[in-house]
Amino acid sequence: MKTAITYTSLINGRWIESESNETIEISSPYKEELVGRVQAMTKNEVDEAIRSAKVAQRNWARVPAHKRASLLHEWASELERRAEQIGRVIMLEVGKGLADGVKEVIRTAEIIRYTAEEGLRFAGGMMQGDSFPGGSANKLAVIKKVPLGVVLAISPFNYPVNLAAAKLAPALMTGNAVVFKPATQGSISGTLMIEALVEAGLPKGLVNLVTGRGSVIGDYLTTHPGIDMITFTGGTSTGQHLSRRSAMVPLVLELGGKDPALVLEDADMELAADQIVSGAFSYSGQRCTAIKRVFVLENQADELIALVKARVEKLSVGSPEENSVIVPLIDKKSADFVEGLITDARDKGAKVIHGGTREGNLIAPTLLDDVTTEMRVAWEEPFGPVLPIIRVKSVDEMVDLANESEYGLQASVFTRDIDAAFRIADALETGSVQINGRTERGPDHFPFIGVKSSGLGVQGVGRSLESMTRDKLTVLNLQ
Ligand code: G3H
Repeated sequence: MKTAITYTSLINGRWIESESNETIEISSPYKEELVGRVQAMTKNEVDEAIRSAKVAQRNWARVPAHKRASLLHEWASELERRAEQIGRVIMLEVGKGLADGVKEVIRTAEIIRYTAEEGLRFAGGMMQGDSFPGGSANKLAVIKKVPLGVVLAISPFNYPVNLAAAKLAPALMTGNAVVFKPATQGSISGTLMIEALVEAGLPKGLVNLVTGRGSVIGDYLTTHPGIDMITFTGGTSTGQHLSRRSAMVPLVLELGGKDPALVLEDADMELAADQIVSGAFSYSGQRCTAIKRVFVLENQADELIALVKARVEKLSVGSPEENSVIVPLIDKKSADFVEGLITDARDKGAKVIHGGTREGNLIAPTLLDDVTTEMRVAWEEPFGPVLPIIRVKSVDEMVDLANESEYGLQASVFTRDIDAAFRIADALETGSVQINGRTERGPDHFPFIGVKSSGLGVQGVGRSLESMTRDKLTVLNLQ
């Protein structure tokens, strides 16, 4: 057997082993294999990371924007060169299909390049005083966009490279420094991504990589007075905890979802079934934007379910090494949770149309009919391959049930009636609504928004540049 690599952390331009002398073992979610070890860092080392980021940021903010953009382009090229290598580690570490792992790295390089280009055109503006009653044209406001300082970027396991770089790139482009804390499962992929950035010419101390146990450094890091902004993607309960603790620090949160698909009477049923299945089941449903419930009118439910079932039966189930759509979930706790939702639904009368079985952490793609609002699966986010179908009497009922959820990430509406689609989109309490398409983030320059328990603030390349800067006003009083 190969010896697993022990990865080091990056602090002030040096790859270090933690003074704790402790590491965290990262095992593959789909085979009994140690992928590697990462450093279990201490509070003292967190202090050092933030201190060095502060120093580096002062210099970086003075580096011309076109040079900051060049670093990002170099980084993108380096990631493209290493796409196969990093894609393979994503597969091993978080159990994503190999092709999707490689695609994630390529998509990341594209986001970085787009951020560099958009960043060059990102600027403040000018205002004249006489537009306001009593104001004078002799008052001119020059509005600059200035960096916030040290950005704490915390990424999730499911996109360990993409959702990390989507935070780092806009932070760097706008003159910030970064302290990067990857999800523990995902931190090897994150480390390789940072290696590529170092290779691209990252100045010392500008990005610091902090790995470690949440119980030791989590709250310490997120409430540290040296942090000027936090951008987090992950579970809703952690996000809510963060939002309670991070008083006065700008915060962007991308959290969970319970995205509904609303299938209207005049929908193209084949299209709806295709989009629902791919939206619900890719990467075993471990996406915040996965379709997590379907509303269909009672008189059309049988037709839709037959179409969905035929597609679910064809999903490949097995190993990420074979690019299976359905793969083992990230850990046992997650699989237990999903199994619990299925059992609860079954006990309360849901019909299992397909799946419902489990082997280790591999949950078969599960399609549930006759799901009612009494069942947990109608409301809770599985982050696994289970899709509840809820039969309703009217479109109004679909909208009411959609809005009753604590979540508000996205929704899909399937209809040929564009007026109805827009009316329903306006009524849905979500950040985005997809008409005749599955729920998903991107293309990555579109705004990405979660409301209610799904998030805070807006992401997407342009909006992330906004959220990592503030206006600085200089007023010229012409005499
Ligand atoms: O898990 C949350 C991700 O932002 C979803 O991204 O729609 O590209 O899978 P995706």
